[in-house]
Formats: sequence, structure tokens, C-alpha cells
Amino acid sequence: MTDQATGVTDQANRSEGEIPGKPTAASRTTLSHIMTGSDTNLLGTVHGGVIMKLVDDAAGAVAGRHSGGPAVTASMDEMVFLEPVRVGDLVHVRAQVNWTGRSSMEVGVRVMAERWNESTPAQQVGSAYLVFAAVDGDGKPRPVPQVIPETEHDKRRYQEAQIRRTHRLARRRAIKELREKRAADGIDD
Ligand SMILES: CC(C)(COP(=O)(O)OP(=O)(O)OC[C@H]1O[C@@H](n2cnc3c(N)ncnc32)[C@H](O)[C@@H]1OP(=O)(O)O)[C@@H](O)C(=O)NCCC(=O)NCCS
Repeated sequence: MTDQATGVTDQANRSEGEIPGKPTAASRTTLSHIMTGSDTNLLGTVHGGVIMKLVDDAAGAVAGRHSGGPAVTASMDEMVFLEPVRVGDLVHVRAQVNWTGRSSMEVGVRVMAERWNESTPAQQVGSAYLVFAAVDGDGKPRPVPQVIPETEHDKRRYQEAQIRRTHRLARRRAIKELREKRAADGIDD
């Protein structure tokens, strides 16, 4: 049977040999790190690239856990920095699989920060969406378990990820077609 809200097929309806699905919670992960002087940019706040590495690390751990093996970053999009991160901030990078295709997974990441020595609530400072491809020993894409969204939050994220997937594919196709047309017209750039 297929969940109408997400399009995800449940395990009872799977054909033999198909990989059983995995719930979102099975691979959800948080990576925490205290920012120090070596993480700063020339303005004295934390370098965006330091945050992006943590985002990629957390998302990679989630993709590896969900797919049960190696997974590589295929794309990172909509990396948003909402507030500057400062030295002495304890940063929590929360990641989960939002959506799965045949061999790819979209991982959603939320970046939270709180002062390392204060008990004030953590504040959201960034977010990103990454696509990982699960690969075999030769670096070729391999099938992944379907993610099974459990909560209404997870179901919304699944539906939104599907919209982003459609847009990514459409954008890639449109750009490829434009380049092919320019080449066919003899335009050399
Ligand atoms: C990602 C990679 C494995 C894709 O290989 P490929 O031969 O193009 O294989 P495919 O076209 O079948 O793509 C595999 C899946 O990834 C998805 N994908 C590939 N490139 C993508 C991109 N740029 N954005 C979003 N999804 C992408 C495909 O849609 C496909 O998804 P599906 O199987 O769920 O339908 C390959 O490009 C690669 O190894 N890239 C380098 C990854 C890496 O080293 N990352 C670290 C950077 S330092």
C-alpha cells in the first residue's frame, strides 16, 4: 500500500529482494562542536566554510547510516546563514534523511547555536539541503532503502524534498538543453 501523503510504499507491498525501508529516526544524528579562535574569518566571527564542513560531516554520517555503507555528497543547496556564529558558541548540527530516490538521499540539516557556558536556549543560525548518492566499492551508485517518514514534520519534509528534487532535475535538464542548442548553432564559448 502507498501512503498518499508521501508516496512511500510500505513494506508489506514490497517485491522480493527489495531493500526494506528505514524510518527517519533510525539515522537522525546531531553533531556538536565548540567554536574556537581557529574557526574565525577576518571579521572575527566563524567562517562559513567551517559551518559547511560540519553540515557535510553530519549529513554524510546520516546518509551512511541510512544507506548502510559509503555515500558521497552529490550536491549541497540552499545553504542559508541566518545569524553570525561566534567563538565560544556550542554549535549543534542536526541532520536527517528527508527523501530517498533509487540511489540518492536528500538530507536536511538545521544548525543551532548556544553560548557554551550559558543556559539560554539554542537559536537556529543556518540550514541546508544536501543530496548524497550511496556508492559501492567501485564508486558506482547503489540502491538505498526507502525512508519511511513517521511524524507529520517528516511527511512535510518528504513532500518538500520531492518538490526540490523535481526542480533540480528540471534545472539541470534545461541548462543541458540550452548548452546543446548553443553548440548545435555553432556558438563557441
Ligand atoms: C554522485 C555520483 C556518484 C553520481 O554518479 P552518476 O554516475 O552521475 O550516477 P547517476 O546519474 O545514476 O546518479 C545517481 C543518483 O544521484 C543523483 N544525482 C547525481 N548528481 C546529482 C546532483 N548534482 N544533484 C542531485 N542529485 C544528483 C541522481 O539523480 C541519482 O539519483 P537516483 O538514483 O535516486 O535517481 C558521481 O557524480 C560522483 O561520484 N561524484 C563525486 C562525489 C564526491 O566525490 N563528493 C565529494 C566531493 S569532495
